[in-house]
Amino acid sequence: MYKITLLPGDGIGPDITAATKRILAATGVPIEWDEQIAGECAIPEFGTPLPEQVLQSIRKNKIALKGPLTTPIGGGFRSINVALRKQLDLFANLRPARTYPGIRSRYEDIDLVIVRENTEDLYAGVEHMVGEDAAESIKIITRKGSERICRFAFEYAAKNNRRKVTAVHKANIMKCTDGLFLSVATEVARDYPNIEFEDRIVDNMCMQLVQKPENYDVLVAPNLYGDIISDLCAGLVGGLGVAPGANVGTDYAVFEPVHGSAPKYAGQDIANPTALVLSSVLMLRYLGEDAAADQVENALATVIAEGKTVTYDLGGSAKGMEMAEAVIAKMA
Ligand code: NAI
Repeated sequence: MYKITLLPGDGIGPDITAATKRILAATGVPIEWDEQIAGECAIPEFGTPLPEQVLQSIRKNKIALKGPLTTPIGGGFRSINVALRKQLDLFANLRPARTYPGIRSRYEDIDLVIVRENTEDLYAGVEHMVGEDAAESIKIITRKGSERICRFAFEYAAKNNRRKVTAVHKANIMKCTDGLFLSVATEVARDYPNIEFEDRIVDNMCMQLVQKPENYDVLVAPNLYGDIISDLCAGLVGGLGVAPGANVGTDYAVFEPVHGSAPKYAGQDIANPTALVLSSVLMLRYLGEDAAADQVENALATVIAEGKTVTYDLGGSAKGMEMAEAVIAKMA
C-alpha cells in the first residue's frame, strides 16, 4: 500500500483531483490518500496557506500529488509552490511536453522534456526596494545547485534513452551566474559521453523551439528560463490543460500540473483533468508502477484521439469527470 499526500488545492484543483483519483483507483494500484488542505482555501481554517501539517504529511509519506494553488499577484502571501519546493528541497522540476494525436497543436511528434532548476536563480525572490523608485533582485546560481540539476538531466536522459541534452542560459550577458551554470553543465556532460551535449542562449532557444522543436530532446535550464520555456513548450503541444510536471528532490517528490488554479472555472467540473492525470502517470513511473502508468496513458491517449468525450479546451463539451469515466472505460 502506498501512502500518498493529496493536495487538491484551489480553483479547479478539487475537480481535476476528483477525476484523477477515480482513474487511479481503477488501476488497482493500492494507494491510501492522506488528504491535506493547502493554498488560499487553507487560510480560513488555518490562518496560513501552508499549514505545518502539509509539510509534515509530505515528509512522512515522501510523495505527494498536488493540484494548483492560487498565489496573489504583486502583494499578498508569497507562492506556496515556491515555498514547498524550497522547504522540501525539490530541486528538479521535470516537465515533459509531447503531442497526443487529437489535440490541436502546431506540430506533430513533439517529445521534449524540460528539466528546470527549482530552488535558485531570480526565483529565490531575494529582492528589495532601493528607495522608492528602484527595486533590486538578486540572482543566485551555485555550483552545487547547477551540478545536481545538470546531473539529474543527464541521468534522466540516460535512463530514458534520450539522445541529447541542451543547456539553456544567457552566459554571454550574465557571465558570472549563467557562466557558472554553463561551465558546470559542460563539466557534467563529460561524464556522459554517449549523450550529445550542446548549449543555447535562451532567446535563440525560444526561437528554435518555435521553428524547429524536433531538433531538441532534453533541455536543462536555471529556474526562470526553465519556467518560461516549459510554458512555451506546453503551448507547442496544445496548451496548459495537457502539461504535466514533477518536482523531485533527493528525499521527496511532488507531482503537479504546470497550469494554475484557473479560478474562473472553479467548481464547474469543466477543466481538463489531463495535466493532473499525466502528472499522476509520472508519479506511477516514479513508484515503479510502469504497467499501470502505461495503462492510464494509453487509455487517455485513446480518449483524446477519439475526441468524443473531451473537455472544452480540446474542442469537446464533456465534464472533467465524464472524461475520466471515458478513460476508465478504455482501461478495461
Ligand atoms: P492558469 O493556468 O490558472 O489559467 C490560465 C488559463 O489557462 C485559464 O484561464 C484557462 O483558460 C486555461 N487552463 C488552465 N488550466 C486548464 C485546465 N486544466 N483545463 C482547461 N483550461 C485550463 O493561470 P493563471 O490564470 O495565470 O493563474 C491562476 C492562479 O493559479 C494564480 O493564482 C497563479 O498564481 C496560480 N498558479 C499556480 C500554479 C501551481 O499551483 N503550480 C502554477 C501556475 C499558476
